[in-house]
Amino acid sequence: MNICVVGLQWGDEGKGKVVDILAEGSDVVVRYGGGSNAGHTVVIGDSRFALHLLPSGSIREGTVCVIANAVVVDPAVLIGEIDGLADRGIRLDGRLFISENAHVVLDYHKREDQLREESLGKQKIGTTIRGIGPCFADKVGRSYAVRMSDFRDLPELEKKLGRIVEYKNKLFAALYGAEPMTVDTVVENCRQYAERLAPFVTDTTEMLHTTIEDGKSILFEGAQGSLLDLDHGTFPYVTSSNSSSLGLPSGCGVPAQMVDKYIGVAKAYTTRVGAGPFPTEQDNETGQYIREKGHEFGTTTGRPRRCGWFDAVAVAYSVRIGAVDSVAMMHLDTLTGLKELNVCRAYEIDGQEKTFFPANIDRLAKARPVYETLPGWEEDISEATTFGELPPAAQDYIRRIEQIVGTPIEMIGVGPKRSQTIVRP
Ligand code: GDP
Ligand code: IMO
Ligand code: MG
Repeated sequence: MNICVVGLQWGDEGKGKVVDILAEGSDVVVRYGGGSNAGHTVVIGDSRFALHLLPSGSIREGTVCVIANAVVVDPAVLIGEIDGLADRGIRLDGRLFISENAHVVLDYHKREDQLREESLGKQKIGTTIRGIGPCFADKVGRSYAVRMSDFRDLPELEKKLGRIVEYKNKLFAALYGAEPMTVDTVVENCRQYAERLAPFVTDTTEMLHTTIEDGKSILFEGAQGSLLDLDHGTFPYVTSSNSSSLGLPSGCGVPAQMVDKYIGVAKAYTTRVGAGPFPTEQDNETGQYIREKGHEFGTTTGRPRRCGWFDAVAVAYSVRIGAVDSVAMMHLDTLTGLKELNVCRAYEIDGQEKTFFPANIDRLAKARPVYETLPGWEEDISEATTFGELPPAAQDYIRRIEQIVGTPIEMIGVGPKRSQTIVRP
């Protein structure tokens, strides 16, 4: 069985935890999109792992890990992660494979990301400053792109980097009055990256097809969330790639038909980091309660996450565009103690009720959430292991969301640990 795990909101839904759990039954785990803007957390007992580029299956020693073609790879971050896991006794030699076609994020991308965001002031997107947008822009622009396969021919790469740095220096000086970068540092860094990462670089598309032909199972790990999708999310407050499950086929060369099940991950409420519309945001005591109780601070940047009520309109949209068969709902425990819970079942736009999410932000900006209010619960649910052990109000909350979204909720998170997950038969 090949399964895709994808975020249904604006990222940080708990994908890392769900992937870690499902990885037990998979031979291969594949990251097919995004870059080090992602931060996926896995908590096993007292150990916490925050992964940015490595698939969340990396923690399991027997799992093969693939970083596919559409991931933009920051070699410094990746090497840091490989070394960090090795320090904790987890080795990736012989089981990590990186696509030769994956594009490389270099220092000038991060610099460009930062310079642009600073220059935009209030208009900024609120990116993670991980160089994601500039690297994808170079990919689409083609002439100044560096891919993992370029590390195989260092003399040729040195010439290319000379051209790129000259171009970027002119651009940064003209637009931002920035000091020039020296090509020597970039070249020297690339020499070190090439040496360290060369053993992992291969044709991952061929590898994945061979894996499927051999009858093995693959778990596809989405990054970001469907509402951050470049084409289908809340543009321009999105990331620079197709982060919904629609990005899977192009992201790794495996057609959508070869995926047997799509599992969408959502929190029992909604969060968002960075700027952009957020109809159910609670910039008040409720939002504060959720942020503190759920430890809602970014895994990658440490920024406080904006918090709000569960938005069933947004999640139903992600489910529809993503062919999602089943929902994994994390952080149900975080809602414990709130007297009443609001669920957004529709939007009111220009006096009309709408249940299809308007991704275009001009219309989304006008959307007023239409809430349904459900009773909360006081009982501690963090030790619950079955659906039946949840308080009736928590069960009703899950059932009502299933009805509105139209998809079964088959996994429920009651705490950050691997073990704190209810799987419904
Ligand atoms: P991802 O980007 O989707 O992998 O999610 P992140 O790792 O960025 O953020 C999710 C956060 O919620 C992490 O700190 C997880 O450890 C934590 N988490 C995941 N599931 C649960 C849950 O069911 N309850 C609680 N309290 N925390 C959870
Ligand atoms: P995971 O995989 C939450 C957001 C940024 C910003 C916008 C663009 O952990 O769920 P970028 O750096 O991609 O150009 O930033 O997208 N963003 C995320 N938000 N979780 C993520 O990843 C994110 N990756 C990007 O905050 O609003
Ligand atoms: Mg995250």
